[in-house]
Amino acid sequence: MSNIGSYEERVKNFDWSIAEKELGYKEGEVINIGWYCSDRICEMGKGDNLALFWENAAGEEKRYTYDDIRVYSNAIGAFLRNLGVKNEDRVCLFMDRIPELYIGLVGILKIGAIAQPLFSAFGDESLFVRLENAGTSAIITQRKHALKVRKIIDRLPNLKHIIIVDHDEKRELKEREIAFSMESERVDTLEIFPTKAESPSLLHYTSGTTGMPKGVQHVHYSLISQYLTAKWVLDISENDIYWCTADPGWVTGTSYGIIAPWALGVTQCVLDSGFSVEAWYRFIQKYGVTVWYSAPTAIRSLMKAGDEIVKQFDLSCLRHLISVGEPLNSEAVVWSEKVFGLPFHDSYWQTETGSIMITNFPGMKIKPGSMGKTFPGIIGIVVKPETYEPINKSGVIGLIAFRPGWPAMMRAYWKNEETYKGKFKNGWYLPGDRAWIDNDGYFWFIGRDDDIINTAGHLVSPFEVESALLEHPAIAESAVVSKPDEINMEVVKAFVTLKPGFEVSEELELDIMNFIRKKLSSLAMPQEVEYVDSIPKTRSGKIMRRLLHAKEWGEEIGDISTLEND
Ligand code: WT7
Repeated sequence: MSNIGSYEERVKNFDWSIAEKELGYKEGEVINIGWYCSDRICEMGKGDNLALFWENAAGEEKRYTYDDIRVYSNAIGAFLRNLGVKNEDRVCLFMDRIPELYIGLVGILKIGAIAQPLFSAFGDESLFVRLENAGTSAIITQRKHALKVRKIIDRLPNLKHIIIVDHDEKRELKEREIAFSMESERVDTLEIFPTKAESPSLLHYTSGTTGMPKGVQHVHYSLISQYLTAKWVLDISENDIYWCTADPGWVTGTSYGIIAPWALGVTQCVLDSGFSVEAWYRFIQKYGVTVWYSAPTAIRSLMKAGDEIVKQFDLSCLRHLISVGEPLNSEAVVWSEKVFGLPFHDSYWQTETGSIMITNFPGMKIKPGSMGKTFPGIIGIVVKPETYEPINKSGVIGLIAFRPGWPAMMRAYWKNEETYKGKFKNGWYLPGDRAWIDNDGYFWFIGRDDDIINTAGHLVSPFEVESALLEHPAIAESAVVSKPDEINMEVVKAFVTLKPGFEVSEELELDIMNFIRKKLSSLAMPQEVEYVDSIPKTRSGKIMRRLLHAKEWGEEIGDISTLEND
């Protein structure tokens, strides 16, 4: 029997107070995610239970009990507090998937500060815009990533502390840098900051369509959604060994890679290494993973590696599989059923929603290719693009729309109220995606309603890449769109015009690619640079990405009456 039991029954009797009761929270009281993820589990007498199995690419292994999480997060909280970090100060986590990243987030939340996780593969420019926007006062990082921080520190007067968790005594600490070793002391007590439901907790940056990245601000009350969705959708309970493959630089890696599993007292696994088919199967077998939350790009890569390699491992421990982040093709669902004996259950949500919104529940009939149905308590429909009126007919494509009010919903875009307000129309929150709903209430994803590129489940803003391209000495103008890719679904492609005196060459293409990789990240790096004589623009001067996009995807171009250079 799954945790959710009957979906229909749950929908009928739903109230978020179900989660509040289970967590022992009453309206108006203190609610602190950091405390729930460690101290509470220990107070329940489960301090010796394993919270984390950790392994890296070099084969190093570590294990942490809930009591370890408690004392080491206390150590981080105390250290930050001693430095003068206060509640609501932004503390950035900029690390590979090392234990300090996971436990650090718990420590930051315990002192009421706002955790700002950033993907460690970000280059200095991506890092800079996010730290500057957030007015971040401290960053916790590793030696190798501190080099990127050093490059931008002069432009970040608010950044007071650069905390290095793997400092080597033989080296010199530079300006504002300070060493911290998490496991040097078991700090038994820490005063937990009395955060309330609406106290800010996390700041996750997500790509904007026309502007710079937006800081999505969440609150401690989000725990209510994260806890219950993990319990009912991921179906995790105390005896599970759970593996969420997402990096905590992204929301899946925090909501379901730290907060939900630890609030539920589950043992989770972390593999701190790049993707490899053998390494992944071996990891599942070695730790006996029972519940696996992953993403379509990874599944497609596993699928490509074939069925034979699966047979070299004993993966009979697996019990429930879930996917998120990008469209999960029906072939992937059928394939996983064939090789693992279990289908992947799609789930749909986004940084802004904070928790799963639409999904295939355990025990529900899966229609491969469909994202499933709304979570109990979530009112989700599709609306007409121009009027935002509900489309009350099955099979008609519209914009996905949710009635605001679930606990994990973002509370603001950091210092960007206008864009935040623009996400609500006619009393609906619009995530910016298109879909249709069938007669049984299943959602079928069509695509995004903007130019944002979803490459391997990561959102990349064409605007951000175009802006970075213009800083390359050879480039006069640029336009960025996606192009199809077998594994990553979409990849970044750049069209550029060159400044006088620059010649088209393959070296220049490589140079441009590397320029973006270093400045932004490997995800944002164009996989192809096409040299053109001019960039298509509208009469008002806006880049016509739609035209270039249609060409790449072999689609009809549609109305181009506003095109300037036709
Ligand atoms: C966007 C959100 C929180 C999930 C990790 C990404 C796309 C997400 C699906 C799905 C098709 C999906 C949407 C969404 N997306 N899940 N199951 N099927 N598309 O969070 O970076 O905020 O991206 O990812 O376009 O709006 P994110």
